[in-house]
Amino acid sequence: MKNSLIAGAGHYLPERIVTNDELSTLMNTNDAWIVERTGIKERRWFTPGKDTVTSMAKQASEMAIKNAGVKTSEIDFIIFATITPDYFIPGNGVLLQRELGLQGIGALDVRNACSGFVYALSIADQYIKTGMYQNILVVGAEIQSSALDKSDEGRSSAVIFADGAGAVVLQATDEPNRGILSTHLHADGDYAEELYVKDPGSSREVRISEDLIHSGSFNLKMNGNAVFKHAVVRFDEVIREALAAHQLGPENLDLLIPHQANLRISQFVQAKLGLEDEQVFNNIMHYGNTTAATIPVAISEALEQQRISPNDLVCLAAFGSGFSWASALIRW
Ligand code: UT7
Repeated sequence: MKNSLIAGAGHYLPERIVTNDELSTLMNTNDAWIVERTGIKERRWFTPGKDTVTSMAKQASEMAIKNAGVKTSEIDFIIFATITPDYFIPGNGVLLQRELGLQGIGALDVRNACSGFVYALSIADQYIKTGMYQNILVVGAEIQSSALDKSDEGRSSAVIFADGAGAVVLQATDEPNRGILSTHLHADGDYAEELYVKDPGSSREVRISEDLIHSGSFNLKMNGNAVFKHAVVRFDEVIREALAAHQLGPENLDLLIPHQANLRISQFVQAKLGLEDEQVFNNIMHYGNTTAATIPVAISEALEQQRISPNDLVCLAAFGSGFSWASALIRW
């Protein structure tokens, strides 16, 4: 059986930096509160007319393809994780495929929010292990800033979520015990409404109306406390599950790359697992929570900063809307 390894990664962040001080001109918040509760100092917001989910994903993908040392024409499948696609229909995978000049290959969209990239990586891993594809482009890209409620009412989520894109090329190898060792996927729909965007839902007579728009149902709604409490438990569980599947423990981890939800969540998980600072990668301070993009952006930056070396044991872990949560254990 083949194994699948991350042959290259890339990322793109929109140019526009939005500081906490700038947010405090839009809503009743302040830098001290945001830094203390989330660790975020600044984030990136897209520029309308310049950035799209597709254009950001294209830049991240081209960097990943270059770093993987493959030709664009060698990509034989695309999996695109996003909950903020450029169009309602079709998905973003085909839009990226067109931009990369890869018309004809398959393109799949994944809508698992903050866990989307790990779910997408897991799907790609199965296709490679069964020999179906050789080089799969796995992307996470989001524009969240256009759907945030930037009034006082929406401030708890408006200060967290942001925009960005990351991508990896997952490649088949014959080397044993290398690449993705296993992936672990979970969800619990009982909590679907704890973090959701209700509209434009399909199960109503009229999908979009003046009344609905003014009701705020198109904005992201989050029960921050519930998300926080579940996240710290599920992150810990799903990381231990991945390690236990290979008779390994937290002490064997070279790098944990958690979904960048909130710095306090990452620090809580780090403490529960007894990990040192150098065993955990965080960049939420600069980019906020970019949903499906956080993990591929972090992989790309960790590689650039030489935080990952060949043969390192790396764990990716995510938690978010659904609730859904997931991990991937990788021998680099
Ligand atoms: O990928 C998964 C995505 N989501 C998450 O990871 C979110 C997880 N949850 C969180 O990160 C935290 O729950 C938040 C950062 C969203 C909120 O932090 P918290 O410590 O749970 O605060 P809280 O909701 O309990 O609110 C505490 C106070 C409230 O004021 P009162 O009622 O005590 O007077 C809020 O109204 O903080 C107030 N508050 C704010 N103040 C200034 C809420 N948001 C803000 C804000 N600026 N942006």
